[in-house]
Amino acid sequence: MRAILLGPPGAGKGTQAETIVNEFSIPHISTGDIFRKNIKEGTALGKKAMEYMDQGKLVPDELTVELVKNRLLEDDCKKGFLLDGFPRTLNQADALEDALKSMGQSLDYVINIRVRKELLVERAVGRRICKDCGQTYHMSFNKPSKEGVCDNCGGELLQRKDDTKETVENRINVYQEQTEPLIDYYTKKGIIVNIDGEKPIAQVSKDIIAELRK
Ligand code: AP5
Ligand code: MG
Ligand code: ZN
Repeated sequence: MRAILLGPPGAGKGTQAETIVNEFSIPHISTGDIFRKNIKEGTALGKKAMEYMDQGKLVPDELTVELVKNRLLEDDCKKGFLLDGFPRTLNQADALEDALKSMGQSLDYVINIRVRKELLVERAVGRRICKDCGQTYHMSFNKPSKEGVCDNCGGELLQRKDDTKETVENRINVYQEQTEPLIDYYTKKGIIVNIDGEKPIAQVSKDIIAELRK
């Protein structure tokens, strides 16, 4: 299966990706995670990306598109993939389509997770991430058993630098201006699956899997 997760910041893309990639045994490709890894490792790409991410702006397409194209050529993508947070602009969507075409492939699904704007800030600001294994939690909606400690590995839980109220609001505006047009783009292609992302996490997972198994 070749699929994309679309949705505003805090919609639950990363959370749902975990379940989907387990269910379908495909790699999870999150451009945000790739940029954060580069920032942590202090690479040149990380340094460039950080300037944009810290302000809640999109990293320029020149940096993002090549990265994804190269990732899709790796061996594990032969059985399919789940893209999370890419494409985010019409230009990225066209570039993805061209890249897949040249590989003799096409997209099967675009999973559009819908959550009202009013709920998104609370979701992002309350999010905590394990510093060691990357597991995501929420201070109210998805708590670890012990506050500040990862259930999986005992690692410390941290807040993402771009999860302040102000930056999240910027990210939501950027989403509405630059990414939301993709809903129309993929609806016209007939591959969009709309999911109510306001239900509890486990129910959203069930709804997505049911749609993908149809
Ligand atoms: P990225 O990392 O992709 O961030 P995002 O799109 O803003 O989305 P998030 O990761 O914040 O939210 P999510 O939907 O994954 O939600 P999650 O599951 O964690 O991108 C970061 C930055 O990188 C961008 O701003 C940009 O600068 C750059 N970038 C990345 N890709 C790019 C691209 N293609 N082009 C250019 N720049 C790019 O859930 C959020 C919280 O809610 C969690 O705490 C979770 O536990 C909780 N939660 C989840 N589901 C539910 C539910 N159903 N009910 C209650 N709580 C829930
Ligand atoms: Mg995410
Ligand atoms: Zn952990």
